[in-house]
Amino acid sequence: MALICSNASKTLNGSITVPGDKSISHRALIIGTLSVGETVIDGLLEGEDVMSTLRAMQKIGAEIIKGKGSDSKLWYIYGRGVGGIVEPDSVLDLGNSGTAARLITGLISSHGITATIAGDASLSSRPMKRVIEPLKKIGAQFFARAEDKLPLTIKGTNHALPTDTTLEIASAQVKSAILLGGLNAAGHTIVTEPKPSRDHTEKMLSYFGAGITTKEYSNGSRKITLVGQPELTGRKVIIPGDISSAAFIIIGALITPGSNVEIKNVGINPLRTGLLESLKEMGADLKISKVRENAGEKMADIKIKHKQLQGIIVPKSRAPSMIDEYPILAIAASVADGVSVFKGIEELRVKESDRLAAMAEGLKDCGVITKTTKNSLTINGKGGRPKGGVIIKSQLDHRIAMSFLILGLISKEPISIDDAQPIETSFPGFIQLMNQLGANMELR
Ligand code: S3P
Repeated sequence: MALICSNASKTLNGSITVPGDKSISHRALIIGTLSVGETVIDGLLEGEDVMSTLRAMQKIGAEIIKGKGSDSKLWYIYGRGVGGIVEPDSVLDLGNSGTAARLITGLISSHGITATIAGDASLSSRPMKRVIEPLKKIGAQFFARAEDKLPLTIKGTNHALPTDTTLEIASAQVKSAILLGGLNAAGHTIVTEPKPSRDHTEKMLSYFGAGITTKEYSNGSRKITLVGQPELTGRKVIIPGDISSAAFIIIGALITPGSNVEIKNVGINPLRTGLLESLKEMGADLKISKVRENAGEKMADIKIKHKQLQGIIVPKSRAPSMIDEYPILAIAASVADGVSVFKGIEELRVKESDRLAAMAEGLKDCGVITKTTKNSLTINGKGGRPKGGVIIKSQLDHRIAMSFLILGLISKEPISIDDAQPIETSFPGFIQLMNQLGANMELR
């Protein structure tokens, strides 16, 4: 375990890019595997989570090669086509990645192969029932530990049925698992979600040639219909920078006096930008420019200047569009003026760690008053620098680790995290990039 210490910093300054979007990277590898011909991915996130998906796709028959020399930013996939994946001859180890576990379970369920997926202690404690139940309707069988936890063996079916599912929670992972399963079922697979969750799967399937439509209802729900057994054709995919990674730098610059930072090429899919909306309500100085689009995904450059933030009430309705950003928004709230309340965030309890508890306890240790209920977090902002001077347990959770390192930028005493390894799952090079901008983070 590598202990990292984040010391108070002067200002953050510079123009940078962040690694590729994690959600889009997983989908590019999986959909490339289900396509015929060559897929070229520019800007794939080379973090541990995505590498788990990459190795799993190789085990089920895809040829995936990294470009060399001037092509080293590119990855090439030679896919098997829908229906063409092969049975892996060993366990698919998905490490820490919930997205890999859910999406790959969906994909395998409609192919006549048997595969076992496993992961680290964090992934092995996360709920899989939410994907197993709807995928049973396809005709697949599942053999898991008690409470449907990993390791999980999936016995897929050769005769996949199209399904019609109404989800109780807005989860892009569950929606995507069902859609990926539906790819190899004849007929229409339908998923209705209560509120819009990130739609990268729908956008990418459409880009690769699938027939997929979305109908929006006045109550906010969405019905997605996929025409099964399409012929997907390999494409070139340009992956934008991950807004969930950019979030750490955005808040770092907002809370560190004198900072002025630009982040280029950040994905701004409207179903992912709840954080920007919240920060604007808190009074943040953010400028978004050069909005452009590739494969249906928007990206832009974001300029951030330090500004004293105000407390905020974040409504439940915003949760799907900023679900991974609550830990870092909690850091912003802890130094803001006034009280902040995040409502309707029970899903945080089943992420890589129980993020609701981890943020409340970690902030308390740093000298910030917090209160939790089963689905909300209240933070009494300090209106300035918190005490700090603690070692936070990262609990195999990259976002908890990075959030507290950001708070260390302005705390009175340094904040350390006990284990920096989880950061590699989503943001390789985080410490170097932060130090390049002016932070003072060091390995102990
Ligand atoms: C993701 C969906 C979200 C998010 C996760 C990535 C995805 O999970 O928290 O980090 O890529 O589909 P849920 O679908 O469980 O909300």
